Amino acid sequence: TQVGLLFGGNSSEYEVSIMSGSNIYDAIDKDKFDVHPIWVTNDGYFASEEDSFKVLKDPKYQVQNPGKVANLSNLIELTKLAEIDVFFPIVHGNLGEDGGLQGLFRILDKPFVGDDILAAAVTMDKEFTKILAQRVGINVADWISIKRFEYNDKDNQKTDYDYVASKLGGDLFVKPSNQGSSVGVSHVTNKEEYQAALAEAFKYDDKVLVEETIHGTEVETAVLGNDDPIVAGVGQIINAADSFYTYENKYDDNSTSKLEIPANIPAETVEQIRANALKLFRVTECSGLARIDSMLTPEGKIVLTELNALPGFTNISMYPKLFEEAGIPYTELITKLIEAGQA
Ligand code: DAL
Ligand code: MG
Repeated sequence: TQVGLLFGGNSSEYEVSIMSGSNIYDAIDKDKFDVHPIWVTNDGYFASEEDSFKVLKDPKYQVQNPGKVANLSNLIELTKLAEIDVFFPIVHGNLGEDGGLQGLFRILDKPFVGDDILAAAVTMDKEFTKILAQRVGINVADWISIKRFEYNDKDNQKTDYDYVASKLGGDLFVKPSNQGSSVGVSHVTNKEEYQAALAEAFKYDDKVLVEETIHGTEVETAVLGNDDPIVAGVGQIINAADSFYTYENKYDDNSTSKLEIPANIPAETVEQIRANALKLFRVTECSGLARIDSMLTPEGKIVLTELNALPGFTNISMYPKLFEEAGIPYTELITKLIEAGQA
């Protein structure tokens, strides 16, 4: 089987994706699969296979020979040449995770790992995810969404901290609706911080969510499969510092966050988190894989944060670790994901 492993991409999660791609490349069962790495550069070009192998070994590698860089139409040539049987896109964020690449695979008429167009687009958008979650009885943080045209209208009351605080309380999160890895996310408790947070979040998206802060710890679970998926156990993020799970805490070596697997929480809470994950996977029509992140309050309430359709596969990422704990080692997990993509 010829596998086209796409990674990189022109989103703020480019570097995370290189780490994920490199780990998947190392772990993939080379007896079963011939892997063709396809590096999508941060400028959005599809690099040659030769360059793609190089960046997997050295994430700082830059395309040396621009003549070897293919554009989108050349990708179609490239994939014909390689006779790819199935694509594995581990391109996080915009265009990779939101239905963009999935549309390309549909046009190419090739199977691929993970969600189809609809589920990818819906789960990339935190507001649509919340609306569907509510429909199946899953708790979400109260929120107000602000479109760019509303933000540009300085008389719009949603841009006024006192107004949003009167609806949601004064302790708030501000986040781009379509983003990953906590990029552009701020925690705010006053007017000045609120204005700065809106400006920051609107750098990344045309829609920003303002949410009540849910105090507690972050808990995550993972789903694998299509119509009859497996749900892993639950892991917990322990934040030593007084901070949320920021980009730095997610990926830096001197992170103050650590993962606890399995989470040290009551068995019935674990079952509730797993049941919610399955409901959400189904209502959003996901396929292949998903990591579902929630907050667990001190009172034991579970509040959904988001569903990640192409979760991180870095050395410290929760998705592969949860399945390892569930008895599915990394290499076998990758095989199952590819098989689910072909099913
Ligand atoms: N969006 C990142 C990759 C994650 O959720 O793991
Ligand atoms: Mg998250």
